Amino acid sequence: MDRIDKVICNQLGFTRKEVKRILHKKRVEVNGQIIVDSDYKVDIEKDDITLDNQKIEIKEYVYLVLNKPKGYVSATKDNKDKTVLELVPEKYLHRDLFPAGRLDKDTTGLMLITDDGVFAHEILSPKKHVPKTYLVEIDIPLTKEMQEGFQKGIVLKDGICKASALEILDTYQAKVTLTEGRYHQIKRMFGTYQAKVTELKRLSMGNFTLPKDLNEGEIRELTKEELSLIKER
Ligand code: URA
Repeated sequence: MDRIDKVICNQLGFTRKEVKRILHKKRVEVNGQIIVDSDYKVDIEKDDITLDNQKIEIKEYVYLVLNKPKGYVSATKDNKDKTVLELVPEKYLHRDLFPAGRLDKDTTGLMLITDDGVFAHEILSPKKHVPKTYLVEIDIPLTKEMQEGFQKGIVLKDGICKASALEILDTYQAKVTLTEGRYHQIKRMFGTYQAKVTELKRLSMGNFTLPKDLNEGEIRELTKEELSLIKER
């Protein structure tokens, strides 16, 4: 059982003081009964809680999808740069959100932001093999040699990268699929062929693809179906 004021703070992002005022104004009902006491206990699994007659949807965790623009770092705080958390709407900011996985400052595309640590571990752990696909542009023509190298696994300073698929789309453009996420991995993999990555965008994680209608800088909650697509492989 949880205190009603804590539940409303967590779900709607109000401060405790604001919730106290809301309760005193008799705007909250639990199972049809007006509640004014901040310490009234509720069962979030069973009780029907309303504010101004609107049901409060109880969410233990939130899962947000962002189409990351360039210029933002994948961190919760940074002294120098803007962070992806700055693109999160105010109403979610009372939660302990963090980016589930890193994209470089100049990388764009699919980024997940959540407060569910277990979920983040599940999709990021190399042991779970959730594939991540990227659209890549490099400054020299792509070659069969690169494709074969990626398939075998590229040797970097910190060990061999697992086999990854490189699908050549055009002279300079390819799709790369990774199942691990090392620091600057794609840039370093192409670096072994003296190629420089000029554009990098994450397109998908698991079977979930960046929604077409989500423009750069836009963010929204994932649906349950989308969430399960991410974990599929
Ligand atoms: N590989 C990189 O080099 N950078 C990214 O942002 C993601 C994968």
